[in-house]
Amino acid sequence: MKLPRAFKTSMAAVLSAALLATVLPATPALAAAPAPATSAVQAQALAVDGGLQIAAKKIQRNPSKDDVFVNKKYPLSPVKYAPKTVAVKGTNVRLKSSAAKAYSKMAKAAAKDGVKIRAVSGYRSYNRQAELFNYYTRIYGKSYASRISAVPGTSEHQTGLAIDVGNANGACGLQACFANTPVGKWVGKNAHKYGFIMRYQKGQESVTGYSYEPWHFRYLGTSLAKSVKNSGAKSLEAFYGVSGKKAKSTPKQTKGTARTTANLNMRTGAGAGNRLLVTIPKGKSVQLTGSKKSGWYQIRYSSKTGWVSGKYLKNISMPAAPKKDSKKSAPQKSTSNAKSAKTTANLNMRAGAGTSHRVVLTIPNGKKVAVRGAKKSGWYPVKYAGKNGWVSGTYLSNFSSSGTAPKTTNPKSSKSSSKKTIANLNMRSGAGTGKRVILTIPKGKTVTIRGSKKSGWYPVKYAGKNGWVSGTYLR
Ligand code: DAL
Ligand code: ZN
Repeated sequence: MKLPRAFKTSMAAVLSAALLATVLPATPALAAAPAPATSAVQAQALAVDGGLQIAAKKIQRNPSKDDVFVNKKYPLSPVKYAPKTVAVKGTNVRLKSSAAKAYSKMAKAAAKDGVKIRAVSGYRSYNRQAELFNYYTRIYGKSYASRISAVPGTSEHQTGLAIDVGNANGACGLQACFANTPVGKWVGKNAHKYGFIMRYQKGQESVTGYSYEPWHFRYLGTSLAKSVKNSGAKSLEAFYGVSGKKAKSTPKQTKGTARTTANLNMRTGAGAGNRLLVTIPKGKSVQLTGSKKSGWYQIRYSSKTGWVSGKYLKNISMPAAPKKDSKKSAPQKSTSNAKSAKTTANLNMRAGAGTSHRVVLTIPNGKKVAVRGAKKSGWYPVKYAGKNGWVSGTYLSNFSSSGTAPKTTNPKSSKSSSKKTIANLNMRSGAGTGKRVILTIPKGKTVTIRGSKKSGWYPVKYAGKNGWVSGTYLR
């Protein structure tokens, strides 16, 4: 994606972002932590799902191992774990020696290809991560801070196995556009050969809990990094079949249930060729999400989501969208001409009527939405925050036909207008290129103007997010 020249990062912005990660008071690496108490391992039972018999994957919780799994739901244990680290050759950045060696090898290979990688931030202690997280919280508020920075005790940087990389000239430092720079492209293509994976990929925020970070690489060792890369999984969460988001951030659309009639392999997709997530023992009750494909059912079990063959399920009760004659909390009659309704959960608004459609945005619990038309298979066409989409009727209440215009999240937007982007346009956290990029709005999209212009920048809303864009690229 090519950004307009004006949006290429100024050196000052690069420096401020890089310095933020590196210059905050350093905490000396502590001595190796005591041996961890836990090392959770998944069930190793053999199972059937179409004939194939395979053992399940384990999730490593031992923080001293290179394959330790860490995210918002899997904090480090002990939470203040501190590894022994070494300085990456020729830099002040520290990593565990395994990762440092691999990084140096990678940097050398990149240099051979004429690509100059710079190590921006590596090991961060618990306290240093706390400083960073608190800093972001002060500037952006906790909700946004949590999308770009880990709570201390949950950052991969604390393992000594994660590194943020940049271009030697600072281009697009710690920004999404880094992906299109020489270093961004090179590491995206080659890092796995040296044992690193891009941990927070584009479009994976609902899975990882973090916005796109094409600069954050996690050392896993070459064997596992290659497996992850070759599996096609877009995140380590998807690879292991676990969630990265804290519970309650998205509504669980699980109503139906079924029972397993054999030890049953749950896989990443509908078919025995997909990777095994976990083996569900015979006779267990599982939750159905409502999706079915070629005889396979999408299910939730033991806080994982995946697919199982329907051949080994009994007592299947699909969480079907309410039928016309079903007795739902909001009867058809009173909702048929409803003009508005209220959400009863954080509710995904999708591009179409069903969970297979793309999520447009998530509407917070308790918000009023405009109902745009008639229900279809239990889903309502709604408008919220200037966007049209579909939501499951299961999570709507207070249907009203009064026609009162639904409120959007920002009162200022009641007299809002809209404009079109004439370039791929960075939406930032404030009015100026020195502010952090929240997302890049594609060319030709309509944005909602939330207020008045400030130094040539407009406060806008796009895809459910608020931010600022330069008026130069709006019509
Ligand atoms: N920015 C990543 C998520 C961290 O703080 O670890
Ligand atoms: Zn990072």
